[in-house]
Amino acid sequence: MQLFILLIISGLASCKSGIFDNVSVYVRGLDKTVEDTILIEFDDSLAPHLQHKPSEIITIKDQFIPKLDTNSVANLTTVQNLTLARNGIRDILRGAFQNLPNLKVLNLSGNAIEEIRIGIFNELPMEDLFLDNNKISRIGYKAFSHMTLKKLFLQNNKISRWSKDWFADSSVSRLDLSFNLIEDLPPNSFHLMSKPVNDSMSLIFTGNQLKKINNDVFNGVERFQRIFLDGNLIDRLSPGTFNGVKHINVLNLNNNSLYDLNSDVLKSTQVDILMLEDNKLRCLSTDIFRMEELDIDGNPITCFCVKSWLAWRDIHSNPSIYHITNLEQECI
Ligand SMILES: *[C@@H]1O[C@H](CO)[C@@H](O)[C@H](O)[C@H]1NC(C)=O
Ligand SMILES: *[C@@H]1O[C@H](CO)[C@@H](O)[C@H](O)[C@H]1NC(C)=O
Ligand SMILES: *[C@@H]1O[C@H](CO)[C@@H](O)[C@H](O)[C@H]1NC(C)=O
Ligand SMILES: *[C@@H]1O[C@H](CO)[C@@H](O)[C@H](O)[C@H]1NC(C)=O
Ligand SMILES: *[C@@H]1O[C@H](CO)[C@@H](O)[C@H](O)[C@H]1NC(C)=O
Ligand SMILES: *[C@@H]1O[C@H](CO)[C@@H](O)[C@H](O)[C@H]1NC(C)=O
Repeated sequence: MQLFILLIISGLASCKSGIFDNVSVYVRGLDKTVEDTILIEFDDSLAPHLQHKPSEIITIKDQFIPKLDTNSVANLTTVQNLTLARNGIRDILRGAFQNLPNLKVLNLSGNAIEEIRIGIFNELPMEDLFLDNNKISRIGYKAFSHMTLKKLFLQNNKISRWSKDWFADSSVSRLDLSFNLIEDLPPNSFHLMSKPVNDSMSLIFTGNQLKKINNDVFNGVERFQRIFLDGNLIDRLSPGTFNGVKHINVLNLNNNSLYDLNSDVLKSTQVDILMLEDNKLRCLSTDIFRMEELDIDGNPITCFCVKSWLAWRDIHSNPSIYHITNLEQECI
């Protein structure tokens, strides 16, 4: 009889499970000499296992944690860099992350997250959030709004629609949405984002499905460090595309299907480096030659066009089209 009861109890114990089952947690202090690895057999929250441990840096990776529930990651008052990468996390419920007052970097790369609900990240004080290489297709209304976030990485997900409300009153100055499925950016897409004080903004939309860029898309932000639109399907830019934008350090339009670039497009926008490689341009008006560098290889530029550029160069001696000698041999 006694033996029977004992067996039932031990049977139950080995079946016990929680959010964190057999999960190994690496913790470290800022001072690299203090580190530890802790095994959580089963529990619904991390905090009890990390008390009195050096825990500015917490890393849980290559484990199996399909879901984060309310309070799963709460009350870690010293953590600054928190990595929860490649753990198969599919679902994150509201309130999963709470009371992380010193959090600076949250790395959720390489999981299987499908949806970003509102309220998951809004209260967190971090500056960098890595959500790249997940399966995100749905992002809730205002999901990143009112945040102190500076850098947000969302590359390699399944986002197909842009909503300007996601970032309302957020100070994101570097946004990487490369390799998603975005087809269209509406006018004033970024104007609700609060403006970076000093830095200008960087937007990376490499490798999406953008076809046509609307007028006024970038209106509301005056200065951009980088706008990357390379590897899309853009065949033309309407003259008002950069309305409201004064300065872009690097504008990358490589690998699109541009067959024309109206010089009005950049009439009131200073671009330092303009990248137009691997498009379908046959010519460009010399009115556009105000940049420091122009990359134009991989276009079917006509010899007639190159002649007009050479004539222009003789008058202006502008180094910006120094590749022109190559083009003279390769023009068609
Ligand atoms: C945790 O690992 C132990 C020993 O390997 C195993 O007996 C137990 O079933 C595992 N628990 C879960 C929830 O996977
Ligand atoms: C976090 O701390 C609060 C306040 O001390 C407490 O009420 C709550 O139960 C704690 N949550 C977890 C998951 O430790
Ligand atoms: C915290 O993460 C950031 C960004 O990944 C990194 O630059 C920094 O070195 C990390 N800090 C520590 C102490 O590991
Ligand atoms: C996030 O974590 C993954 C897995 O450890 C790592 O490969 C990646 O470099 C991390 N990202 C950052 C910015 O630290
Ligand atoms: C902004 O940049 C200027 C000049 O580069 C610098 O003097 C100033 O401290 C910066 N302000 C902030 C808030 O970073
Ligand atoms: C264009 O895309 C191809 C294929 O992804 C890549 O190999 C090439 O380097 C790209 N060209 C430029 C100028 O980025």
